[in-house]
Amino acid sequence: MGKILTFGSLNVDYVYHVPHFVAPGETLAASKREVNCGGKGLNQSIAAARAGAEVFHAGKIGADGQILTDMLSQSGVDISYIQHSSGPSGHAIIQVDPSGQNCILLFGGSNQEITTQEVDQVLANFGPGDRIILQNEINNLAYIMHQAAARGLDIVFNPSPIDASIQSLPLELVSLLVLNEIEGAALAGTEDESLVLEGLRKQFPRCRILLTLGSRGCIYDDGTQRIQQKACSVEAVDTTAAGDTFTGYFVAADAAGLPPQECLRLATQAAAIAVSRPGAAPSIPVMAEVKQFSL
Ligand code: RIB
Repeated sequence: MGKILTFGSLNVDYVYHVPHFVAPGETLAASKREVNCGGKGLNQSIAAARAGAEVFHAGKIGADGQILTDMLSQSGVDISYIQHSSGPSGHAIIQVDPSGQNCILLFGGSNQEITTQEVDQVLANFGPGDRIILQNEINNLAYIMHQAAARGLDIVFNPSPIDASIQSLPLELVSLLVLNEIEGAALAGTEDESLVLEGLRKQFPRCRILLTLGSRGCIYDDGTQRIQQKACSVEAVDTTAAGDTFTGYFVAADAAGLPPQECLRLATQAAAIAVSRPGAAPSIPVMAEVKQFSL
């Protein structure tokens, strides 16, 4: 089994429990505040490691980032490729409403200070058979994709959070695209949900596509087979990092050589458990919990 490298964000998440999302001009009291580890990159690394994979995390933290590397280490992720900045780490201001939905304000901080030289240093340690997981919360993504492909790594890309910069990335180099309905519609260039998968398939003919549909489950399409997986129904406490848990679990199970049906089932169960718990990284289950959970 090859190694898994996540080159991605590490954020300190400031989570505020609110009766509703704050409106323009409104001042709103939060009933509770938590400080958690998060960032889509960190969450996906932790999910893959808790699923049992050998995971390396590359990225950059600031002086306030010790809590982030501690969390990764405690979860079994190798942190030797994490760089340090004199500025602040990335952070997120997250509002969580009583239904468990969130809205997130992101500050990139040191996640946006990655140099091409640092990318080269990290990627020199990886090669064919290894996988790299990327999200859209760090800078120099196009460079990372080109260099990773040149070294023979399989590129897993989660285009989240989606923005216009995604269109300028060399997405033809991606071998597994993991995205939600909003990201799928934006990339496929259609609002018609029934056309999203076909649109993506046309644009990326050689890529495996994993489209998540929230409470309606997900669809996997590798060009030769299409598999639908229904979601688990759980009481939502906090949906933050559910998608990251799904991605990390799917990639770890896929890297272990499990068939796609099994990867989808494990990823779905892991995400359901994450939704039923508060926080981002703290909500991600270990494999023993996932195996006990039934769909
Ligand atoms: O996907 C959830 C994550 O998005 C949070 O942990 C937050 O840091 C933002 O990156």
